[in-house]
Amino acid sequence: MDFLDIMNQRKSCRAYDPGKQVSREDLLKIVEAGRLTPSGCNSQPWKFIVVDSPEAKEKLCDAIVVGNGVTGAPWRHQVSAFIIFVEQKADVKQVVIDHYHDTQRFAQGDIGAACMNMCHEAFSLGLSTCVIGMNDQAKMEQYFGIPHGNEARLVLAIGYAAEDIPVRKIRKPLEEVCCFNEWK
Ligand SMILES: Cc1cc2nc3c(=O)[nH]c(=O)nc-3n(C[C@H](O)[C@H](O)[C@H](O)COP(=O)(O)O)c2cc1C
Repeated sequence: MDFLDIMNQRKSCRAYDPGKQVSREDLLKIVEAGRLTPSGCNSQPWKFIVVDSPEAKEKLCDAIVVGNGVTGAPWRHQVSAFIIFVEQKADVKQVVIDHYHDTQRFAQGDIGAACMNMCHEAFSLGLSTCVIGMNDQAKMEQYFGIPHGNEARLVLAIGYAAEDIPVRKIRKPLEEVCCFNEWK
């Protein structure tokens, strides 16, 4: 399949079949797509925590509720597995530190790229995904042993879709997001 076809057909899934488990084999293929992702100075500033046991999933479902009961994933209890993307201190070249005074300048972009590569690998395996942006960092540290100072940036839900909802790509028009040679 052409890559643009994959891009057009992948969609965020918010209804999963709770009776169908994603295999460890498939989960490791998805992680491999993340591991192969390019990163600034090849620093690979990430740890991918795969969450697939019932006990760990229960904790994860609690950790993605923030403040007074707000969650981006009210459907979270149906999900077969999650991956937590933890940002680690990036070992970048001295020239980057001298210029930006920030070792983490590229890290969030790197993690976003890894996450999307994983989404597309999951899609190619017939699986569905949804990125979950918000989480409770203190609970992430408590439940998963994440050392303080390592931010849980994203969570990816992975499973089999409960229903085949048609793709609706809502995107800004090309002319609005793209210009040639100067800002327009
Ligand atoms: C950083 C990030 C955080 C997101 N957080 C959530 C979320 O908490 N809950 C949710 O249902 N979707 C979430 N999404 C999914 C977006 O809403 C979705 O990607 C966007 O609407 C485009 O739709 P599509 O993925 O189907 O093309 C998130 C996506 C990204 C990239």
